[in-house]
Amino acid sequence: MSTNILGIETSCDETAAAVVRDGREVISNVIYTQIPTHTLYGGVVPEIASREHVLKINQVIKKAIEEAEMTWEDIDAIAVTYGPGLVGPLLIGVSTAKALAYAKDIPLVGVNHIEGHICANYLEDKKNGETGVPPESIEPPYMCLVASGGHSHIVRVDDYTDYTIIGRTHDDAAGEAFDKVARAIGLGYPGGPKVDKLAREGNPKAIEFPRASVGDSPYDFSFSGIKSAVLNYLNGAEMKGLEVNKADVAASFQQAVIDVLADHTVQAAVDYNMKTVALAGGVAANSLLRETMKERAEAKGLKFHCPELIYCTDNGAMIAAAGYHEYKAGRRADLYLNAIPNLKIGER
Ligand code: KG4
Ligand code: ZN
Repeated sequence: MSTNILGIETSCDETAAAVVRDGREVISNVIYTQIPTHTLYGGVVPEIASREHVLKINQVIKKAIEEAEMTWEDIDAIAVTYGPGLVGPLLIGVSTAKALAYAKDIPLVGVNHIEGHICANYLEDKKNGETGVPPESIEPPYMCLVASGGHSHIVRVDDYTDYTIIGRTHDDAAGEAFDKVARAIGLGYPGGPKVDKLAREGNPKAIEFPRASVGDSPYDFSFSGIKSAVLNYLNGAEMKGLEVNKADVAASFQQAVIDVLADHTVQAAVDYNMKTVALAGGVAANSLLRETMKERAEAKGLKFHCPELIYCTDNGAMIAAAGYHEYKAGRRADLYLNAIPNLKIGER
């Protein structure tokens, strides 16, 4: 008997729902992105995000069930992101999921958004896969870099619901640094994909930006120094009346961030005797990060895995995948489930 989970995600600026079978097979995946709305303001406006989620959530869920060619009878549990994220947006998803669970008498499972990003690695999209070939499957244990707009962590995944943070950022998240540098060179929001694209035309060795290590942990990160170094470089050039080659700035900045992300993650995997390294979170969509991690992991004899591009940024399928494992572990949320904006990995 297979288990179908409906996953609901509203923690930031994507209203998303998906149906996933047995934690791996994506049956439907509907994402309504609010990016065009927030682009007008240069970043996510929480109040506007909440309103957009209210407007779209019912349609998105209905479409996810329809595209799966299912009815509510076929859904074994509803999984919803309850943190971390923006409190208003989270509450829309949580309230909707609770109402549906109650009305349809279906079990409810609360999911940590970051754990959802990690579980995107298990997803196999038979209908819409990029390559049409099911990706090689991955199973715990492995070392995972989670890099998104709000988080940068190295996480040891010992089992499907067992996570330990090995490294973390002391200041900005990697995606945040991409977004801020993009704004500084006039690329707009969201910056990550735009820096990624422009960097392909630039020289990554043109400018030497710092590769920061912090304190006494070899696995921690700090990205505020490199962000400041880029801003100083741009200001310095402006004061001297020099023209800036934006592609070189993008390529050099990106290379500096990725060197640190890849080296710390591969080192953590080696030190903790892991045989596999994985990537997760919005920044995992970065083409250079994907290539670099693969090269450096394989150079150490490790296997490498990353989610398909569509499952790197926020989506409902990853929440359904994480929810499946919580459900199988017997964890259930009740109607008191609340949004927890600063929910930590591994917290229940
Ligand atoms: O995981 P996500 O969709 O939302 C959060 O949970 O934060 O990640 C969004 C972040 C943004 O900072 C965005 O700029 C970054 O992921 N991002 C990228 C790329 N695509 C998205 N960063 C670098 N290269 C990319 N191709
Ligand atoms: Zn995310």
